[in-house]
Amino acid sequence: MTATAADPRHTDPRHTDPRHTDPRHIVLTGATGQIAPLVARHLDARHRITLTSRTAPAAAQRAGVRHVACDYDDPGSLLHAFRGADALFVVTNDPTRPGHDRNIVRAAIEAGVGHIVKLSAAAVHDSRAHDLITRWQRANEERIRDSGIPWTMIQPRSFMSHALAWAPDIRRDGVVHALHPHSRNACIAPEDIAQVSARVLGDGGHHFQSYQLTGPQPLSAHEQCAVLSELLGRPLVCRELSRQEAHARYARRYSPAMADALLAGAERQLAGAKAGTTDTVERLTGRPATTFAEWAAGHLDRFA
Ligand SMILES: NC(=O)c1ccc[n+]([C@@H]2O[C@H](COP(=O)([O-])OP(=O)(O)OC[C@H]3O[C@@H](n4cnc5c(N)ncnc54)[C@H](OP(=O)(O)O)[C@@H]3O)[C@@H](O)[C@H]2O)c1
Repeated sequence: MTATAADPRHTDPRHTDPRHTDPRHIVLTGATGQIAPLVARHLDARHRITLTSRTAPAAAQRAGVRHVACDYDDPGSLLHAFRGADALFVVTNDPTRPGHDRNIVRAAIEAGVGHIVKLSAAAVHDSRAHDLITRWQRANEERIRDSGIPWTMIQPRSFMSHALAWAPDIRRDGVVHALHPHSRNACIAPEDIAQVSARVLGDGGHHFQSYQLTGPQPLSAHEQCAVLSELLGRPLVCRELSRQEAHARYARRYSPAMADALLAGAERQLAGAKAGTTDTVERLTGRPATTFAEWAAGHLDRFA
């Protein structure tokens, strides 16, 4: 978990002094995804912020934030987007394309990026996790650790926003469909992941740290359904999916290999692997992690 002492970045106060708060150039990949736009909102307005993705975000960004188009398959576009970055937030989402993270790390080295903050996953610590997604995230982390660039790993449990996938069925007939509906997951609000990420980006005090992030309590789909029912003021039914039904639903959205990996993750959840909590959100933000009820109340219009 340590980098080589010969790395010149270790003698550069920009990279070692946690009190370094000068305006920085921060590049966030995943501009059109869930987390990076939230990170941009939490960053100090004095920073120069570049959001990157293939397509431009639909919503206008605040002043001081620009969008630069890039494609993980196009190393030249990555080098262009990363040049001069003091810190880089890395979001990739396709485990069948390991070349994406390889291209990103190569471009970051060539561009002289000062700090990589990687959106990874809590499952990398689970010795029983051997699925495609977890193996991919472990390899991504290793590549970054070997890059010589100071790094920070953000390792969240499942996003609370997965519940948004229930919204159409809830609106239509008040039913939530879930595999293993009584198994618990200490899921986390995307806002909390974003606030922690904004806190550490470019801050030497967080170099070479891995942060496992969870919500404040483990909850089952059944319990989340009860929270939503209470907030909406109407009964909801939580219906159990068989493994075959769940796999078929995953396969409608993802490749067969991804569907297998998601099913394996659900089996580990059933075995209790995703119920543990950490206090990392509170330690790094100074406030308790968001509860599912708080998150759901903030997104109730999507379910109503
Ligand atoms: N969901 C969870 O519960 C969970 C839990 C733990 C960890 N994670 C991790 O969180 C990460 C984010 O996952 P997500 O599915 O939620 O991602 P996402 O929010 O959908 O974001 C993916 C972003 O990557 C960009 N992108 C994809 N392919 C690209 C390419 N070829 N070139 C440039 N940009 C590209 C997309 O932009 P364009 O398509 O517009 O280019 C998009 O902005 C993943 O690494 C996942 O493993 C997720």
